[in-house]
Order: sequence, then structure tokens, then C-alpha cells
Amino acid sequence: MLNATILIADDDEDIRLALNLLLSAHGYKIIEASNAKEITIKAQSQQPDLVLLDMNFSLDTTSGQEGLAILAQLKPLAIPVILMTAWGSIELAVEGLQNGANDFIEKPWNKIKLLNSIEQQLKLSKVTQQNQGFKQLLSNETNKHWVSQSQSMQQIEQLVEQIAPTDANVLILGENGTGKSQLAERIHQLSLRQHEPLITVNMAAIPENLFESELFGHQKGAFTDAKQHRTGRFTLADKGTLFFDEIGSLPISLQPKLLRVLETGQFEVLGSSQTQTTNVRLISATNADLDKLIDEDKFRQDLLYRLNTLVITLPALKDRIEDIQPLSEHFIALFCQKYKKAPLAFTDNALKKLKQHSWPGNVRELSHVIERAVLLAMTDSIDDKQLMIEQTTNKAAGDITLQPLEAAEQQLIEKALKVSSGQVSEAAKLLDISRNALYRRLEKFGIQYEA
Ligand SMILES: Nc1ncnc2c1ncn2[C@@H]1O[C@H](COP(=O)(O)OP(=O)(O)OP(=O)(O)O)[C@@H](O)[C@H]1O
Ligand SMILES: [Mg+2]
Repeated sequence: MLNATILIADDDEDIRLALNLLLSAHGYKIIEASNAKEITIKAQSQQPDLVLLDMNFSLDTTSGQEGLAILAQLKPLAIPVILMTAWGSIELAVEGLQNGANDFIEKPWNKIKLLNSIEQQLKLSKVTQQNQGFKQLLSNETNKHWVSQSQSMQQIEQLVEQIAPTDANVLILGENGTGKSQLAERIHQLSLRQHEPLITVNMAAIPENLFESELFGHQKGAFTDAKQHRTGRFTLADKGTLFFDEIGSLPISLQPKLLRVLETGQFEVLGSSQTQTTNVRLISATNADLDKLIDEDKFRQDLLYRLNTLVITLPALKDRIEDIQPLSEHFIALFCQKYKKAPLAFTDNALKKLKQHSWPGNVRELSHVIERAVLLAMTDSIDDKQLMIEQTTNKAAGDITLQPLEAAEQQLIEKALKVSSGQVSEAAKLLDISRNALYRRLEKFGIQYEA
């Protein structure tokens, strides 16, 4: 990239000179630094676009500790760093990458490799800078991107905008992963209560005996284990929104307790006789068929009437194919950002395949498929094969042979290496362990890998 400034950080004068000649000849402006102090000062004051950092300073020529310490000091500056390590010190390079370096090259360097790496890191850092604003939007929970391109979702969108500012209770129905939880959040954000809390209660996750204490709170000593006062969710959500997720999982025995507070707006904290009043807006969600549960005497009709003032049913993804492309493009950008990858695009075949799939896990499944494809992407595009849709959907979850745990572990590692074409770092991501943890296992099982 023209006019980019590179800080060469190495204590060896000959190396600085050689690099300076090479990089100046390719149009880069050069700053040099020879010790830790000088490096941080120059990085701060002159704000280079990239730092080439030697890991083996004379103080300590092999362990790389000083290099790692400098790396830590450079981190807050958000300048891309390429490490230079002695040939064969892969462990150190890996440690550096885990501590925020962007790439590494081995000394003596290959000129083309070095120039390519510099070029690529400069490009990536430009993209990252451009995406800073976008990133802030994403990290801000209140601004999660909501895709609603299809006609059915457009209608829902209209309804949502209309009802969000009212205090009407809303029941959101839909299969797993259709976006119920995100929609609940969105309704709260569009409501007049947006600056008040949104409190979620997952009905499937509360043990029966703690239900009242969770919802209404308890006083110290209210029951044997009540060692401390606890504030209930109704109190926490006061003036705001209470989101009952998985409402279909609420046991019938507990339903009268919820019904009373919904009918009267009143409740008592466990251990107290004082009646409290609550002012909450209620949103609930479920993937269960509540009418069927009512027929089976598992859900109370009168409770349903309290919840379903307005009902929104999110359609399955396969019934709104027009949303698939915009959702996919949203997720690809999101995950490129998350995994610090250069922007990726789908091939036409990949888009076709995405639209053909039946998506039993709906939007969540789509997001997982794309996350994996982004992690495994080797080029600047994602092809249909890289989506690996068949493999994931045709295989029953329980379809795994019973065998000793170590053998299964070895098999999983070999498979991860295979699908990531031998790239240890990618395989580690797939297995959700650190690179070091994977290296240890590779050694343990004697699995061949490319350093
Ligand atoms: N319309 C949409 N636009 C953008 N992202 C979406 C949309 N719908 C769903 N998602 C994303 O898909 C994932 C699943 O959505 P969510 O958790 O809201 O589904 P759910 O219906 O609550 O699932 P479950 O039934 O498992 O609780 C989330 O990461 C969510 O952000
Ligand atoms: Mg949910």
C-alpha cells in the first residue's frame, strides 16, 4: 500500500538496514527502533501503519519473552504487528499470535512472503478501521441488525412498529431459531420503555422449587437456603419489559402463581406479607403448540388469555426464501469481522444451495453454517461445497459409535485437520481449543502435521 509507514523493531543493526533497503525500495516509509523503550515511544508518537517486530532481543535471545512484553505494550495502539522469529520457533510464533500479533515470518525471511504479508495486513487493517463504526453498532445490543426482506416478514415488521409503543402483552410463536428472542428484544427497543430494563426469564431453566423466589424474590431467612435477600424478576423489570422465554415449559402446578400477578399486578416477596405492585410489559415466546398443551391439560387457557393480547408467528426460514440471501450476507460480514478475516463473498452456487436447503434449525442453523464456512475459507469466496450443508443435516445427532474416549478424541482431531486442510489453527477453532492445546494432543497421539 502506497505511503504506508512501517516501524522496523530489531536490535540488530544489519537486519534493520537490510529491511529498510528492501521496504523503501517498495515504496514504504520506514522508522527504525532498536530497543523496547524506543519501540513503544515511536509507535505512540509516530503512529506507523504496521510494526515488524523481532522476537529475540539480545537481552534474552531465545525465549522471546521481551518480544512478547513489547507486543503487549503495542496492543492498545491497534497497529498490525508482524513478528519475526528465529527459524523453527513455531511455538513462540503461535504464542505471539495468541497475544495479538497479526502474522509472523521466520528469519531469514523470504522476500516475497514478507512483502505479501505486509501488503495483506495493511489491507486488513484498513478494512477493520472502516468497520469500526459498524462494529460499535453490532456490539451495542440495542442495535442488532434485523433482516426482514420477505413479504411475510415485512408484514410482521409493520405490525411490530405499530404495537411496540403500546403496553399490550405480546406472544411470539415460531419454530426453534426463527428469531423469537431477538424479536422480543426488538419490540422492547422500539417501545416507550426502551430506557428501562428488559429482563428475561427462561421458564425452561428455572427449577420448580425456585420459581417463586426467582420471580418474586425472597427475604433473608424466608426458607432454609435463603441466606441473603434476593430481588425477584418482577421487581427488576419494574417500569420495563419482562420476557418469558419458553413459556410452554412452565409446569402446570406453577401456572396459578403466575396468573395471579398477571391478573392483579400484585405479588408478595417470599417471607414478607407486604403486597407489592408491579408495572411490567410482558412479552412471551415459545416453540410449543400452546393449543395442544391446553387440550392435554398442560397449559391453562386463562393464562394464555393473559399472554396473547397480540400474537406474532415467525415463519420458518424455508417459508421465506427471500430472507436467505440478505441474512447470509449479514452473517458473512458479521463473522468476517468476528474472526478478523478479509471480506468474503458467496459464489452463485453457494447462494443457490443456501436457498435450496430446508433449514430445520432456521436462522440459527444458517448462522452456524456460515460461521463455519467463514472459519474454513481459504480464498476470498465461499463455494457451495464449503457450506457442508448435507453433512450437517443428514447426519443424525446420535450417529456416533461408542468407543474409548481417547480414540474418539483422536478421530475428532484427525477429522478437524482434514476439513481444515491440515491448518492447525483452523482445526483448533473447529474443536474450540487453543492452538497449544491442539499441538499437545497432536504430539500425544503422534499425528503428523505441518508446522
Ligand atoms: N430476522 C433476523 N435478522 C437477523 N438475525 C436474526 C434474525 N432472526 C434470527 N436471527 C439470529 O438468529 C439466531 C437465532 O435467533 P433467536 O435466538 O432469536 O431464535 P429463537 O426463535 O429465539 O430460537 P429458540 O427457539 O432456540 O429460542 C440469533 O443469532 C439471531 O440473532
Ligand atoms: Mg429464543
